[in-house]
Amino acid sequence: MFKNLMITKPIEAQPHVDAGEPVEGSLSGEVGFKRTLTAKHLVMLGLGAVIGAGIFVITGTAAANHAGPAIMLSFVIAGFACAMAGLCYAEFAAMIPASGSAYSYTYATLGEALAWFVGWSLVLEYLFAASTVAVGWSGYTVSFLDSLGVHLPAALTQAPINFCTHEAAQAGACEFGKFVTTGALFNLPAVLIIGAVGILCYVGITQSATANAIIVSIKVLVILLLLAFGFQYINAENWLPFIPENQGGDRFGWEGVLRGASIVFFAYIGFDAVSTAAQEVKNPQRDMPIGILGSLFLCTVIYIAVSAVLTGMVPYTTLGTAKPVATALEAFPSLLWLKTLVEIGAIAGLTTVILVMLMGQPRIFFSMAQDGLLPRFFGAIHARFRTPHKGTVLVALVAAVMAAFLPIQLLGDVVSMGTLVAFATVCLGVMVLRRTQPDLHRPFRVPAVFVVGTLGVAACLGLVATMPLLNWMVLLAWTIIGFTIYFLYGYKHSKLRQQLPQR
Ligand code: ALA
Repeated sequence: MFKNLMITKPIEAQPHVDAGEPVEGSLSGEVGFKRTLTAKHLVMLGLGAVIGAGIFVITGTAAANHAGPAIMLSFVIAGFACAMAGLCYAEFAAMIPASGSAYSYTYATLGEALAWFVGWSLVLEYLFAASTVAVGWSGYTVSFLDSLGVHLPAALTQAPINFCTHEAAQAGACEFGKFVTTGALFNLPAVLIIGAVGILCYVGITQSATANAIIVSIKVLVILLLLAFGFQYINAENWLPFIPENQGGDRFGWEGVLRGASIVFFAYIGFDAVSTAAQEVKNPQRDMPIGILGSLFLCTVIYIAVSAVLTGMVPYTTLGTAKPVATALEAFPSLLWLKTLVEIGAIAGLTTVILVMLMGQPRIFFSMAQDGLLPRFFGAIHARFRTPHKGTVLVALVAAVMAAFLPIQLLGDVVSMGTLVAFATVCLGVMVLRRTQPDLHRPFRVPAVFVVGTLGVAACLGLVATMPLLNWMVLLAWTIIGFTIYFLYGYKHSKLRQQLPQR
């Protein structure tokens, strides 16, 4: 049985694929994905997936409550873990350009059961991130419309259940840690944005990538404006003390910097989503590493610069708001014109995160269905649009229901944990494969792989270790549900196991 669970999927030689060549078919053998994407599309998809709620929402509270100005260091630490994982993803994505991403890499190296575990953890990353960010999108959009004099009824802008946060408890609104009813019906804007983005994902990868590229240009432009103008208002005294003294637990000091790193890790999530488009890229061997590492590098530079500017403009203690960038700009009347632009940039930013996450999840399910671990439903490709249309509809529906009715934003940290688990496994897998199959053709090779891989595993697991106990319990429950499904369905239907000699 144990040996059965460790069964690995052989890696087939990947021919060089050029524009327009037909590729492997769907389960029914009719049509497959369309290869249309280039390195530029991939970098834009990476920027689309990465820059979102992390920088526009979470950075402020992480600085105000945990790291102070040293939030810059938190970004460096989280960026280091991502750089190690990104290098390992790049080696795999060029060698095994499959839409299953970390799931497929693990299947080829560490066996089926772990591959399932990673695929199941990726649901936390993609599906839950799409819902979480849609709720953030709703918050930003509602307040933006408010500032324009358009007021949506409160009953349609929130989930009916909420979680009492520290802030709400301090304001006397509720008892910390309890679920409270809000009196609202459901979160309509979150449903609408998931619906609109879902339709785009349904009709085509080229349309999705083009829309993504346009929206990403807007958000990057807004961030560059923020950096250029905000820079002039930096007061270096706001950076002192750089690491505020520890106030107990993970409030400031080095403990706070590390907790800050695990919180802002959320901001980096998404560069790996680039790898789910591998079967739709013209030349994946060359372009996947460029897409993954290029977008990661650009985001790291942007994040460190933005956090330096924000904590330099105003005292970090004032940044613990839902819109920290707007908060920093409000302190300078001459910068108020930029506030509206930043709000537009944030709404644009969150839109593309939802887009790339909703693109990635059905593609991972597609790979799992091809291997027999999920029902054939997920392996269907639309004859005309060449997208995993059925999986896309189901994923969008589930994401919309969660965003509409549940206090899903609670799960931000759990999204990060699922992602970190996948990253650590990819780092381990790349080292294992170098040992087990050293002669495989590797279009991209991680330099000093055993150093990079080990540091990657240690950094990712180190960040997981700083997470609160509650998140561990959620991850454990999620894993138990996942393995129950695996033993009830995937274990029996696995195509690889069916090829094993029957005993
Ligand atoms: N990195 C993405 C964001 O910050 C998930 O919204």
